[in-house]
Amino acid sequence: MSARTGTFTIGDTSVEMPIKSGTIGPDVVDIGKLYDRTGTFTFDPGFLSTASCESKITYIDGDNGILLHRGFPIEQLAEHGDYLETCYLLLYGELPTATQKADFDYRITRHTMVHDQMHSFFRGFRRDAHPMAVLVGCVGALAAFYHDSTDISDPHQRMVASMRMIAKIPTLAAMAYKYNIGQPFVYPKNDLDFASNFLRMCFAVPCEEYKVNPVLARALDRIFILHADHEQNASTSTVRLAGSTGANPFACIAAGIAALWGPAHGGANEICLRMLMEIGSVERIPQFIARAKDKNDPFRLMGFGHRVYKNFDPRAKIMHKTCHEVLAELGIKDDPLLDVAMELERIALHDEYFIERKLYPNVDFYSGITLKAMGFPTTMFTALFAVARSVGWIAQWKEMIEEPNQKIGRPRQLYTGEAQRDYTPIGKR
Ligand code: CMC
Repeated sequence: MSARTGTFTIGDTSVEMPIKSGTIGPDVVDIGKLYDRTGTFTFDPGFLSTASCESKITYIDGDNGILLHRGFPIEQLAEHGDYLETCYLLLYGELPTATQKADFDYRITRHTMVHDQMHSFFRGFRRDAHPMAVLVGCVGALAAFYHDSTDISDPHQRMVASMRMIAKIPTLAAMAYKYNIGQPFVYPKNDLDFASNFLRMCFAVPCEEYKVNPVLARALDRIFILHADHEQNASTSTVRLAGSTGANPFACIAAGIAALWGPAHGGANEICLRMLMEIGSVERIPQFIARAKDKNDPFRLMGFGHRVYKNFDPRAKIMHKTCHEVLAELGIKDDPLLDVAMELERIALHDEYFIERKLYPNVDFYSGITLKAMGFPTTMFTALFAVARSVGWIAQWKEMIEEPNQKIGRPRQLYTGEAQRDYTPIGKR
């Protein structure tokens, strides 16, 4: 079968560029040699039509609301498995057998403690530090504590670093919360599952027994599964770009955490809750809807819309159900914030402006409400997203390092500044 090509005609020059096909999804035109052959770059800020890498981990069909990890639909993973099973799948490419799962759970659990000196590191932060600021710093600092897993050319060290990332980021996130509220750090407890252990590290205090609520633990585990990976989003692309330089994995994941913090990405769940609080009551919704539609007002309805999902977000569907399970378990019915959220959801699903632009409530809309009901402060929301996404970042980083033709990421630009000119001495300006 002859290889397919696409023809680019630029001025008088026509060149053939190879077309590559994935397993599913749109074909791509490989334009790697375009500059060599035509002296022209392509221009695609925001990567609207540009694939930045080849990957076997996650596939999204935004038009049809499909999210697959290693081929498995997110709905099935969230319904039947747990977060550590999804972690195993993302890292190794296959679902684990019972023995492999038990071994993986054991190994992750045994990596959850952080070096004791990290405690002194924490004391350098102000008490009111945002947990994401603490995470960016502390995850980057892990490279200073775990020298035996920073040699990226050693497959064993890469896997140890991956395990450490999945196991220790939750501990650091819980410590950031405890430090924030002035309570003592709670050490991980090895006989608990991943989500229950996280709840305990956040909400237990030394003076009384902490009983994990299984409905909340299951809901949190689901939030972790739903956020585990999402192909080449901004933070994952940041991790890959940082990793392409050969930087150690802890530094790369710290870069990913920084990118996740932004309100257009992982920061949306926090901003969404703050927006619901600002709206305050159902009567005030129309004025905020009017602002969201006003082209001269930068205000956007946070928790609505998605760059890729243009019909529905499959994660939001699952999260919607989980959200209601948590609210029922906690007996939350007459919460003004919830009333605002439900009315906003109703409007967005019926209003022409939102329908035309395909702006649906996204996963952060429901996860924000759920996390608030569980007792997490809004400042922790993005940190929880980072906990969940650690595995996606590290799996994508590993895949990139293991790619034989991997190159440093180095985008081109369209320069629109001054052309060359001569320096004028300061006295003559
Ligand atoms: N509220 C009001 N109008 C909106 C919104 C919104 N949330 N999102 C998009 N629009 C409008 C936008 O003004 C534009 O209208 P027009 O065509 O009349 O100019 C149209 O919809 C298309 O917007 P866009 O900016 O081209 O869409 P995008 O794909 O670049 O942006 C987005 C995607 C997620 C950044 C954006 O929808 C947004 O800012 N949403 C709120 C933030 C949010 O909830 N982010 C979390 C995303 S899910 C978590 C994750 O995966 O990271």
